[in-house]
Amino acid sequence: MNKTKYNPVTPEIVAELREILGDKYVIFDDAERLEPYSHDEVPNPRYAHMPDALVRPRTAEEISAIVKLANRCMVPITPRGAGSGLSGGAVPIHGGIVLLVDRMNKILDVDRDNMMVVVEPGVVTSEINDAVEEFGLFYAGYPMSLETCYIGGNVAENAGGGKAIKYGVTARYVLGVEVVTPAGEIIEMGGKLVKDVTGYNMVQLMVGSEGTLGIFTKITLKLLPAPRASVDMLCLFETPREAISAVPKLMTEGGVIPTTIEFMDRPSVQAACEYLNETIPYEQAGAMLLITVDGADVQQVEREYEAVGEQCLANGAIEVFVADNSTTSERIWSVRRNIAEAFSIVSPEQCNEDLVVPPAAIAELVDGMEKIAEKYGVAIPSYGHAGDGNLHTRIVKAPDWSMDRWEDTWPGILNELFELTASLGGRCSGEHGIGHKRKKYMPMFVSEGYIELLRSIKRAMDPNNILNPGKIFDV
Ligand code: LAC
Ligand code: ZN
Repeated sequence: MNKTKYNPVTPEIVAELREILGDKYVIFDDAERLEPYSHDEVPNPRYAHMPDALVRPRTAEEISAIVKLANRCMVPITPRGAGSGLSGGAVPIHGGIVLLVDRMNKILDVDRDNMMVVVEPGVVTSEINDAVEEFGLFYAGYPMSLETCYIGGNVAENAGGGKAIKYGVTARYVLGVEVVTPAGEIIEMGGKLVKDVTGYNMVQLMVGSEGTLGIFTKITLKLLPAPRASVDMLCLFETPREAISAVPKLMTEGGVIPTTIEFMDRPSVQAACEYLNETIPYEQAGAMLLITVDGADVQQVEREYEAVGEQCLANGAIEVFVADNSTTSERIWSVRRNIAEAFSIVSPEQCNEDLVVPPAAIAELVDGMEKIAEKYGVAIPSYGHAGDGNLHTRIVKAPDWSMDRWEDTWPGILNELFELTASLGGRCSGEHGIGHKRKKYMPMFVSEGYIELLRSIKRAMDPNNILNPGKIFDV
């Protein structure tokens, strides 16, 4: 446990916060308005915790003043973006102040010559592409929540998503950050530089630090020339095993790295289709792959999708559909993007897991999951970024089980899933983060020495344990 003793937010502290921000941007003593900031998208209420106060700063200087005040008064601060996280990362588990970056939502500089963009943390991720499109550029990050999440949260969690197989995860594009440190200093790290070895790679330490080492106030991102052509394919298979087994072969035998290789089993597609009142041809398939190929011109894309389609058929696909227009593509993608949301409505008791294994081990992971599901008599549907070895898996309560039986059983099932993942050289999170939801499982995947190294970095940068305490590990 954390040994730090924190103080509650008092009316005196609130008065100082109001001095810094103005009355309007400090919420205190108002349970109804604070409640939305007590949880993220993890549906289970066991992971929620109410903040004492919410602040909505506009500048790095204001954040710096708030962080210095918090250190002086020993009040924890939990930074928060859009709250679309799936590990409890933005939940203030020790109460205190939630610091929301929603007002820091400007795209500061679209730098066409350097192919970079400088943004504030509260910019909605999809807006970056809206802003750079006219220059023939694009930002390659593609978390499934891109229409609602903030780029600051993507950087804090090192978000992955649907295009990582070809383009990599958020970290690859973060060249610089301006950060308010846990001590309240405003520090620039990196910048508009493609190469920079001036000291430790602090930028990449900050990426994925889950709000425990600093609060981003500016982010410099690398852009790429926008692909001129892109095609989506839906490949149907009879069983999850067949669909998954085809995945590594698309690349090793087909010689193509698609932009996307998303796996969806039948229950996942069905849940999203029902939620959206949509129809895609899932009835005949036990599982499907949504594959995108993009490139510099139509000929290249045609060549590549033919190679991928052939590999799918050679590896057991019963049918390969090529989306013939952007409306069809968007409909399929919308089904994919809404699976998590659909499931959280269907079965709020158990939340989404985020298993990741070496890409070639993914078929073994699916096999093992099927055995665990059979052993316990539960359904374990899964979907996700198969090309990355990253699957979202959900244990679903059997309809005839009592709540007591469910509560007694699911932790053991989860444990077995994690043991299986670890035995394949995997980890408990590929992209959603540890937060407090997966904290206790860390030792199943990494050594105590590794966790101690993380702790020593946290202690050095945040001796008062002010910033997002109780996340990833306990100090
Ligand atoms: C997805 C989110 C849950 O892939 O990561 O849908
Ligand atoms: Zn995902």
